[in-house]
Amino acid sequence: MIIASNFKTNHTRTSTNEYIEFVEEFIKKENISSDVYVFPPSTALMNSRSVFVGAQNAYPVQSGSFTGEIALEQLQEFGIKSILIGHSERRHVLKESQEFINSKFEFFKNSEFMITYCIGEPLEIRQKGLKEVLEYISLQLESIDMSYENLIVAYEPVWAIGTGVSATMEDIKSTHSALKNIYGFKNLLYGGSVNLDNVASIVDIEGVDGVLIGTASWKKEHFCEILKKTNKLGGR
Ligand code: 13P
Repeated sequence: MIIASNFKTNHTRTSTNEYIEFVEEFIKKENISSDVYVFPPSTALMNSRSVFVGAQNAYPVQSGSFTGEIALEQLQEFGIKSILIGHSERRHVLKESQEFINSKFEFFKNSEFMITYCIGEPLEIRQKGLKEVLEYISLQLESIDMSYENLIVAYEPVWAIGTGVSATMEDIKSTHSALKNIYGFKNLLYGGSVNLDNVASIVDIEGVDGVLIGTASWKKEHFCEILKKTNKLGGR
């Protein structure tokens, strides 16, 4: 089971430190067997022990002239080996093109990062049905090396992110099952309004290998409760 927290634009370096220390203690005390990932803002990147700390974003170069960005060199300073690519907020709010996302994927694959690659459809596509959803997602995967061994895929329907409205259990089940059948993903996470009340049922769905959580994971106590509720559930 993979349980991941995306801080987005929340937390400081100090609070991230406290959060990770707290979670690492909890993992030890409660014998949590899941792989736990935390993606803090880039000002709070740090080395860690049992929690995998990853970057939410980076520019696909070793170093260079890209004002406001960080690149591989800055990640390496903290021993960061994990990154989110293709998150819906970067696609839709920051207008990253699929072409740019593909180049990020290639760069961080060549740098042997653990890549959590995010896919997902907007509401108007979901309303048309599963066939259209799969067609939409196929374009997000077209130039992605799906045989890359350090690949985690996160299915995050755009309309379920930060809205408090998670996809239904049926939608998650049918979408994950179709994606696994078509692409053979080994690690397929669900994300989008996962919370303390729905997380156990979601990770119990066949084809769900873990969750990528935003809002409900930002308080360390809540994230730890989620780790406890999901410990040893699901297939992994
Ligand atoms: P929420 O859990 O706040 O819906 O965010 C999901 C997400 O975008 C995780 O990457």
